[in-house]
Formats: sequence, C-alpha cells, structure tokens
Amino acid sequence: MRRLLPLRKQNKLPIYHSEEERDGLRAAGSFNSKLLDFLRDHVQEGVTTGALDKLAEEYTRDHGHIPACLGYNGYPKTICTSVNEVVCHGIPDNRVLQSGDIVNLDCTTIVDGWYGDSSETFLIGEVDPEVRRLVQASFDAMWLGIRTIEPYSSVIEIGLAIAKFGRREGFGVVENFQGHGIGRMFHQEPGVPHVPVKKSRKDILAPGVSFTIEPMLNLGPHTTKGPLSDGWTIVTADGRPSAQFEHQILMTELGPEILTLTKRGPQEGHQF
Ligand code: MF3
Ligand code: CO
Ligand code: CO
Repeated sequence: MRRLLPLRKQNKLPIYHSEEERDGLRAAGSFNSKLLDFLRDHVQEGVTTGALDKLAEEYTRDHGHIPACLGYNGYPKTICTSVNEVVCHGIPDNRVLQSGDIVNLDCTTIVDGWYGDSSETFLIGEVDPEVRRLVQASFDAMWLGIRTIEPYSSVIEIGLAIAKFGRREGFGVVENFQGHGIGRMFHQEPGVPHVPVKKSRKDILAPGVSFTIEPMLNLGPHTTKGPLSDGWTIVTADGRPSAQFEHQILMTELGPEILTLTKRGPQEGHQF
C-alpha cells in the first residue's frame, strides 16, 4: 500500500469523509442506481429522451429527493441524454430513439444533501458491430479504471490505464471532460482525467475520498466540439459516435467501494 504524499507535495486536498458521511454518500449512490434501474425498462425504440427525463424527475421527487442537474448552472432538465455523436450533456427533448442508436443516460440526485452520480450507455435495437464494440470498450475502460486503484493510489493511474486501453482498442479517449470528486458538492477536487495528466500525480485517493470514473470513448479521434447553441451539448468533432459509462466510487481502507452498482444493469465483465 502506498503512503500519502507529504502535505506540501499534494494538490488542493480532496475531502475525506467520516464514517457517518460515507453512509450519506452510500445512500445517494444507492438511490441513483435505483433510478437507473427504473429507467432501463423505458429505454426502448420509440421513446423520446424528453419522456425519459420526465420519468426520472417524477421518480426522484416521488422518493423525496432532488434532481441535481435541474438548474445546475442553468441546466434545464433532470438527466443528460447523449445520443450517438453526442459525447455528453445532451439535453432531453422530443427526439425519438430509433433502432441503431446508442444513448447514454447520466443521472445525478441529491439525497439528504449528498450527491449520487452515475451513467450507462444503452443500445437501441440492432446496433452496428463497431459501435457495439465502442460501447463495450467504454464499459471495460471504466472497470479497468476502478480495478487499477487501491488506497493511496494516484489519480494519474486511472488515466494511464484507461488511455492505454482505449487507444489500443482503436478509439479516441476524450480529454476535455473528466471525472470528479463528489460529496456535498456535485463537482469538487480531485479532477479525474481519463488520460494521463501530470498534475493528477499529486492527487492521492486516500480512504474517505469519493469521486467518479466516467470515460468517454469515440469511434473516431478524441476531439470534441461544443457546446452547441443550446449551451450544453458536446459532440464529437467528426460526428461519429461516442459512448460513456460512469460509476461513483468511495475509496475505503479496504479498497474502492462502488456506490452506484445497479441490480439489473450490466455488471463487471458484461458482454454487450
Ligand atoms: N452528470 C454529469 C457528470 O457526470 C454532469 C452533468 S452537469 C449538467 O459530471 F448540468 F449537464 F447536468
Ligand atoms: Co454523471
Ligand atoms: Co460525474
């Protein structure tokens, strides 16, 4: 097990959560995964992304919780729905999902003041084999990132592992958007890049730190465009598809605890 760097050598310190606070995070992660499990039955050919958003908002409020994205920096909806060439932050609207589409549903909830954040990419009907391979690689990249770390690992290890894997599979690994610390705030220290970034070497994942791993892989190059005129939507520069998965992690003394495991979604090792 690696030791924590001396304080003066670390970046801005992340927040270390106490046992009681960890239970708050666990509850938020657990609800967020229930929300994804609720939505998955509705993610089908013919449904609009706007209808999925309405379902997500209702389910969240019916359980007494708060949609975290709604109103966040002016974001207008409850979830992000990123279809095909949309890399992230797609805004739900009247778009109808069709066979051959891939769509990432990114859900974030506030439960008793704690944030839960996770996402999955869904395949609609018959999806092109290359695109299916892209979805698989994004899923595997997320799990590789999770399995690469242990208490006191450096954040750069996540980016090293994911970038090497994603590029070897022949995909672009998005650099402009990254995972993040999370707790009583949506986005906090440390940033979690999915490619090696030198400054991440000094970010240490000590027990008590909660963060996301959420790699975006592109069929083409890693480059992105946007936000589009709606102020949010990020697309691939070449217009080809992009896929993403996200889990929220709590580093504990025993290793990474995954806070957003679903009951009915793809589990570690799943083949799409
Ligand atoms: N859920 C996204 C993330 O993983 C953030 C979405 S911000 C929003 O960090 F405002 F677009 F919702
Ligand atoms: Co998210
Ligand atoms: Co996130």
